Amino acid sequence: MPSHRVGQSGGTDMPSRPIVLGFSQLGSESDWRNANSQSVKEAAKEAGITLIFDNAEQSQRKQFEAIRSFIQQKVDVIAIAPVVQSGWEGILSEIQEAGIPVIIVDRTVDTADASQYVTLIGSDFYEEGQKAGKYVLDKMAASTGPIGIVELKGTEGSTPSIDRGRGFHDTITGTDKFVFLGSEYADFTHEQGKDKMRSLLYRLGGDIDVLFSHNDDMALGAIEAMEEYGLQPGKDIVIVSVDGTRKALEQLIKGKINCVVECNPLLGPNLMQAVNEIMEGRTLPKRIVTPESVFTEVTAEREISSRKY
Ligand code: AHR
Repeated sequence: MPSHRVGQSGGTDMPSRPIVLGFSQLGSESDWRNANSQSVKEAAKEAGITLIFDNAEQSQRKQFEAIRSFIQQKVDVIAIAPVVQSGWEGILSEIQEAGIPVIIVDRTVDTADASQYVTLIGSDFYEEGQKAGKYVLDKMAASTGPIGIVELKGTEGSTPSIDRGRGFHDTITGTDKFVFLGSEYADFTHEQGKDKMRSLLYRLGGDIDVLFSHNDDMALGAIEAMEEYGLQPGKDIVIVSVDGTRKALEQLIKGKINCVVECNPLLGPNLMQAVNEIMEGRTLPKRIVTPESVFTEVTAEREISSRKY
């Protein structure tokens, strides 16, 4: 694969061949993730960018292996959707030494040296948690409490799990009618969402009034666990989830989920635009945030016909 050159302005000279992008995708754990991968693949094709795509199956070690292979292949730009926040500084230094620009996609990396990446494209997960918390405050406004809340968290150490949890807790805390009864990590998957909800139910049973699930896949698993336990999801337990996949919107319309905070997976076009701008030597904002909304039963009806994922 031909090498790229870093220009004197700090940008890279446009090669006379298609730009080559190495993308380390963290996994395929959820419908959101699969829509995100699809979006990146389609946008690369559309933009005429050659994409080398690697699925790390939720393993940071596999992400490092993929990135080292991108360096060896002398790709023009490396994009990383990091599974967890910590532990990236070493590999980012290796990329920096190779002179390859880095774009962080979806989740954040903890690094003291902001020059290790050009830009971060993705959602404001803290705000998503706040939106979920605000919904619960409004929904439970008439109740005097105590209101028992449980949480299905995503992958331990991942940005969406850390920030959604913080945003939710910061919004609810201070209102003493709410009681946090328990939380479980369920890795953003349907299967673990069901398993972990089952154990929460056996431990806490009828004390649970609200579930905050950090994504739709876990919420869908939790619905199955609640029904097996003999409860009516959405009625006996209020469910708030994050993402906005078609399957979750269907449950929202049926009344089994009460609110879905949107997290937009369609980051491919933004990513390709950033790749092109880097190659043209242009300056990018350090943070590109995707605009998102909140779905209720009414707005889900409107949205579902156009939902692709
Ligand atoms: O990082 C985004 C999160 O990761 C999505 O909410 C979730 O579905 C995915 O697995």
